[in-house]
Amino acid sequence: MRVLVTGGSGFIGSHIVTVLEAAGHEPAVFDTAAADSGKRGDVRDPEAVAEALRGVDAVCHQSAMVGLGKGFADASAYVGNNDLGTAVLLEQMATAGVHRLVLAGSMVVYGEGRYSCPVHGVVRPGPRGVPDLDSGRFEPACPLCGAALDPELVGEDAPADPRNVYATTKLAQEHLSAAWARATGGRAVSLRYHNVYGDGMPRDTPYAGVASFFRSALERGEAPRVYEDGAQRRDFVHVDDVAAANVVALEALDDLSGGGFRAYNTGSGEPRTVGEMAHELAAAFGGPDPVVTGEYRLGDVRHITASSERFRRELGWSARVTFAEGMARFAKDELAPVAAAPSTTAS
Ligand SMILES: NC(=O)c1ccc[n+]([C@@H]2O[C@H](COP(=O)([O-])OP(=O)(O)OC[C@H]3O[C@@H](n4cnc5c(N)ncnc54)[C@H](O)[C@@H]3O)[C@@H](O)[C@H]2O)c1
Ligand SMILES: [Zn+2]
Repeated sequence: MRVLVTGGSGFIGSHIVTVLEAAGHEPAVFDTAAADSGKRGDVRDPEAVAEALRGVDAVCHQSAMVGLGKGFADASAYVGNNDLGTAVLLEQMATAGVHRLVLAGSMVVYGEGRYSCPVHGVVRPGPRGVPDLDSGRFEPACPLCGAALDPELVGEDAPADPRNVYATTKLAQEHLSAAWARATGGRAVSLRYHNVYGDGMPRDTPYAGVASFFRSALERGEAPRVYEDGAQRRDFVHVDDVAAANVVALEALDDLSGGGFRAYNTGSGEPRTVGEMAHELAAAFGGPDPVVTGEYRLGDVRHITASSERFRRELGWSARVTFAEGMARFAKDELAPVAAAPSTTAS
């Protein structure tokens, strides 16, 4: 297949290009930061997108403005890059008759993880309050009885609850893709990535993830600083597995059961705590040991871990890189130079 990879110069997109080539496909990069071999263009630019879509069989849509940004000040930049950009892309796909789409989704659409109370079963605790966090009570309690909750794995049918602008744009991308699939008879899959890490991850910027912060600290000879008590659970998935997941999804699109749009959690299936990750990475790097600070960021989720069982059952994908192997590799990997913040103006 000839596959247009938007965001193909980025962290995840560049790995997808490599895996597509290895699988005998023909990737074409479309990115505002594309180098010589790719097409430099903005997904918000209809003419550039139309030209890039010529002769294409499928689109792997990775381009986005990522991370938490700087508060609300860049809301329109997120919506422009991510949602207007996706709408322009889908419009042009409809015109060009391109019917296959794999979208880079995100676990951020869930907002919170899944919790169960020993008495009340699955419950949805509200955001954690400042007094609790200040006194080190990091675990959310049952909203009905106050009991301690057990974190569980989130499935794809959990209700969406995007809690910031970025998360809202990732959910809107899915809704646009589903609407496009209905209107055009196209097939779309959203891969809801969990915490992706690996070589080529951007260095710490307001847009990077926790693994990159820890890795960057170690490189400066500093201890990774772990927030809360370090027991917050996440699913760290290696970028090689995420790239392979995209190829599996692209190849499965024509046989997709259950209609035009389907979402799949894309995680390692091995939940870990942020503290464990910091320790594993520091050990593999050769020190210094992490420091658990007790500080917190209001708005951080306590636990968010996925079940990627649907992806395994329906499309046969599962992660291969183990936590120990992935962290050992990541300790030695090159990070990408500080990523340029995506441009905020439509061209
Ligand atoms: N890294 C993670 O842990 C993670 C987790 C969940 C979802 N995702 C999603 O995966 C995708 C790839 O993320 P990444 O971590 O590789 O980020 P990245 O910033 O490394 O890559 C994004 C790429 O998109 C390009 N881009 C941005 N806006 C563009 C536009 N308007 N037109 C054309 N190109 C544009 C950038 O130049 C960049 O090369 C994103 O959609 C992101 O939301 C990432
Ligand atoms: Zn309860």
